[in-house]
Amino acid sequence: MDFGLEGKVAVVGGASKGLGRACALGLAREGARVVVCSRSVENLTLAAREIADETGAEVVPVPSDLSTLDGVQSLINQTVEQMGGLDIIVNNSGGPPAGTAEGADEEAWAQAIQMSLLFFARMSREAVPLMRERGGGRIINIFASSIKQPIENLVLSAATRMGALGYSKTLADEVAKDGILVNNVAPGYLLTDRMMEVIHHRGDATGADYEEAMADLTGMIPMGRIGRPEELANLVVFLASDAASYITGATIQVDGGVIRSMI
Ligand SMILES: NC(=O)c1ccc[n+]([C@@H]2O[C@H](COP(=O)([O-])OP(=O)(O)OC[C@H]3O[C@@H](n4cnc5c(N)ncnc54)[C@H](OP(=O)(O)O)[C@@H]3O)[C@@H](O)[C@H]2O)c1
Repeated sequence: MDFGLEGKVAVVGGASKGLGRACALGLAREGARVVVCSRSVENLTLAAREIADETGAEVVPVPSDLSTLDGVQSLINQTVEQMGGLDIIVNNSGGPPAGTAEGADEEAWAQAIQMSLLFFARMSREAVPLMRERGGGRIINIFASSIKQPIENLVLSAATRMGALGYSKTLADEVAKDGILVNNVAPGYLLTDRMMEVIHHRGDATGADYEEAMADLTGMIPMGRIGRPEELANLVVFLASDAASYITGATIQVDGGVIRSMI
């Protein structure tokens, strides 16, 4: 299938590793020109080079801190300067701090609101006028299974991402007539550095080692295994493509069946 992504400009956040890197690689494989962003210059430059070498695509590293408005504006401005505009944004960054509903303090709340609520609104607000200029675009938000069911010790993920989901659905209504499609993906448990940390924490809490904690986790997943980052990236590439031309305002989970909610 021709996804129609050849030459499209895609911006992928949190792309030095994990889910963001997998999305950048998937888009580059389809011929998109990709801007990758994260805070660490060294890791990001290496990731950009590796993706470019593997795919032959143009991959431009733009280091920035996406938990601030300045950081988001700098990413979008540099994208326009270097690529002449943009067509696709994959809104992904570091996750919010861990914490219980009773225990999360003011500092953790403030950090989570920047990282996992305002980040999504800022990226879209900066990108929409540029997409309009090009006659359309795609906005894909990477959320979490917490938008369908709470995750233990991650109250800030549920609380902030539900707000981002409300923003995203409203935005989808407002920009549909401009040919801008806005969709969300909800990963369950996919093996990245962040997920390894989560598994270590789960083990520490019960006295289990990493293998035992992993077995305990995969035992809860109907497919009986943790996911791979590229299994999320495949969906993101599809949503960015011409093949997804009548999908907007949707939220799709990539979770091996772990989410218990029926819709
Ligand atoms: N993995 C999963 O199964 C899963 C499940 C549910 C939700 N999620 C969510 O998906 C997102 C990505 O998760 P992941 O597992 O891929 O995490 P990861 O492996 O820790 O990667 C996070 C990426 O984001 C970058 N980053 C972190 N803070 C940033 C900031 N302030 N500005 C710019 N870039 C930043 C990191 O690079 P630098 O350190 O260089 O900035 C890195 O490239 C997170 O929000 C996470 O909560 C993941």
